Parts: sequence; C-alpha cells; structure tokens
Amino acid sequence: MNLRQPTQTTPAEMGEDIARIIPGKDPELHVSNTAPPVKRIPVHEEDDSPRIIPVCEPTLGGNEKKYVTECLDSNWISSAGRFITEFENAFAQACDAQYGVACANGTVALHLALAAMDIGPGDEVIIPAFTMIATINAVAYTGATPVLVDSEPRTWNMDINQVADKITPKTKAIIPVHTYGHPVDMAPLMELAEKHGLWALEDAAEAHGAEYRGARAGGLGHAAAFSFYANKNITTGEGGMITTNNEKLAALCRNLRDHAFSPERHFWHKYLGFNYRMTNLQAAVGLAQTERLDELVAARRRNAALYNQLLADIPGIVTPPEAKDVKNVYWMYSVMVADEFAMTRDELRRFLAQEGIETRTFFIPMHFQPIYYQQFKGQRFPVAEDLCRRGFYYPSASSLTAREIRYIVTATQRAYMR
Ligand SMILES: Cc1ncc(COP(=O)(O)O)c(C=O)c1O
Repeated sequence: MNLRQPTQTTPAEMGEDIARIIPGKDPELHVSNTAPPVKRIPVHEEDDSPRIIPVCEPTLGGNEKKYVTECLDSNWISSAGRFITEFENAFAQACDAQYGVACANGTVALHLALAAMDIGPGDEVIIPAFTMIATINAVAYTGATPVLVDSEPRTWNMDINQVADKITPKTKAIIPVHTYGHPVDMAPLMELAEKHGLWALEDAAEAHGAEYRGARAGGLGHAAAFSFYANKNITTGEGGMITTNNEKLAALCRNLRDHAFSPERHFWHKYLGFNYRMTNLQAAVGLAQTERLDELVAARRRNAALYNQLLADIPGIVTPPEAKDVKNVYWMYSVMVADEFAMTRDELRRFLAQEGIETRTFFIPMHFQPIYYQQFKGQRFPVAEDLCRRGFYYPSASSLTAREIRYIVTATQRAYMR
C-alpha cells in the first residue's frame, strides 16, 4: 500500500453502476444577496453584504485567547506544559473515561491505539465500509487487514450482525465508527468483543458529547479516538485524543506517542514509537473548548431540532436518525434525498450553492476508493452505497443561527417547488 502501487482507477473504470453512485465535483458556490448577514463574528457585526453560509466553522470566543496567550507569555509552546495534562484530564472526564492521551490528530490517535493494542500484519480489523478514509488508513498503517461490513439503514452505523459474520481466528479488533455523531449500538458489539477476546476501538472522531444509554462516547469501548479538526464539535485546529479506562493501554499510548523513550536512560528505545504529540498551544485551545463542550453540543442539537421541524414539511428529505437510547450530537446535520424529491441530490446541492449555501456529500465507501478498490473488488455494500448516492449535509456549525436555518430550509422548499 504505497505510492508505487497503481491507483489509477476512475469511477468509469469501476463500472457504470458504480460510477452512478460516486459524486462528482462540488458545485461552485455563489455569494448570495439574500442570505442572512454574519452576526456571530464581531468584526462583521453590522455587515449585511452578500455572503455564503459555510458547511461548518469553529466556534471560538471562550478562554482560547487567554490560554494561548499564557503559553506564549510563558514560553511553553511545545509538547510539554500545563495545558496538555489539563486538557487530557478535562476531556477524558467529559467522556466518562479515566485517561486521555492527546495526539497530533484523530488519524494518528487511531493508529497509536491500534499500535498499543499490538495489531499488526496477519491480524484482521473489522470496520464499516461507510466511514472517512482515516479509519481504514490507520488499520493499513499497522499492516493488518481491514475487513468491511455494511451499515444498517436505521442508524447508518455498522451492522453488528454482519460484524459477527466476519469474525475469524485472525480477527483482533473492531472499530465502531459513531457516524456523524450518532453512537453505535455498543452493547451487542461489546458482547461480541468480549466473547471473542477482541479489542473494541471507538472511532469517536465525530462524536464528542454523544451518549449511548446515558454513557458518553469515549468510554464505551476499550479505547476511543477523537479528532479536534476545525469542523469538529470542539476543536484544537488540528488535534486528537485517545480516551480509555485501561491504565496499561494509556501508559503504552503515552510512551509510543513520544518516540517510545525508555524510562531507563535517555535516547534508548525498545519499541517502534512515533512522534504523535500535541502542542501546549493546541491543548490550550482544547481546554477552553472543553469548558464549553456541553454548550456547543446543545447548540448543534438545537439546530438539528429546528432543521427536523422545518424539513418535515418537505417530502423527500429524509432527516437524520436518532435511536431511542442515544443522544446524537449531529456533528453534521445529514440528510438523504429520496426519489420523491423534485430533484436529485446533486441538483439540489447545485441549487443551494447558487443561494450561497455550502453543502457536502456523504463519504464515498472504502471499497470504491481507488487505493483500496483492488483489495475489495467484487464486494458490495448496498446500504453504504445508497448513503453515498443520496446523502449530503447542510451547514452544521454550532454558531449557525435560527435565521440561517430558516433561509436554508426555505431555499430547499423553493427547490422542491420548481
Ligand atoms: C470518522 C473519522 N475518523 C477519523 C478522522 C480523522 O481525524 P483527523 O482529521 O483529525 O485526522 C475523521 C476526520 O474527520 C473522521 O471523520
């Protein structure tokens, strides 16, 4: 799996039926004269010039500046400093987990956790076909073999029955991905993991603050990996964290994160370590963001409730799932465009782009990725494929206003009436 391997496959080369599923380029965004003015960024307080509504943006404005200034004033800008530990403790606590290990980003958090679980060549790791590329790449970095399962149509998350069917003597781990902020049905998954002696690593990159049966994502599996990329519910710009209740695993992750320096003597390395450290500057932002986690999650849930209510009147827009026993945090407010809608998903996105509304298509499943296409050739995952063909997300930032949501839904209504 490297740059020398041919990865020239185009959608057309994959076959006509597959090419029909894979979305094309994003439509060009136009500024709009009618979109609501920016109110949330102080600089633009009175700005009512034409604008666009971005699909996502961070919400800063708490203690971020104060804490970052403290790093600069004190010279603690690298990967030591008080904010690393304080952020790790505060975020782990917010996830109902005992330990937090801050990392450079969510992808390396996944890789680091898998490395600490001693996953390597000859092992199999079960993941959903419908996920972001980092999930499968992290498995590939270890040399283990990713095994794909389809999503269930009800929650868009990995189908646990299919996980059971894919377990072999080589299986070492399962990575349940809490898709778009909706937690996986973890009880049966953990039962399977315990029964077969497998690691369960939550890919919680999109699920800060999400809950399953009253418990937070991040403490539901043996370990979890979070991302703090700028579009996440809370952000450090770039960043990630492993949370776990396993003290030994946390200590190993901490050591491997830092070149596997040996406690016996300096520059002495017994394991293959990495430099996956986070800086104190990022952690300063992370701590300030964690202080507002509940508030920012509540804003996303409030926005989702308003979208749900307003979109209910438009036939053919399928609103996002929320199972009975979970709290979905709606990282992205995600919908499916059904056949009864007046336009296809791509036509609707083009229409919204003309109105200054940025949207994003759902993930392209892993078996269709050029880099993995040969590996999974012939395997099909109909639910993941349907999600890819019909799904997109609306603007979803915590800072989105009710006025903006009304503007977006009215534009969708106009698309339907055309
Ligand atoms: C499901 C999932 N896993 C992993 C990642 C990787 O996180 P990062 O971008 O911080 O490396 C993402 C990023 O968006 C993601 O959505």
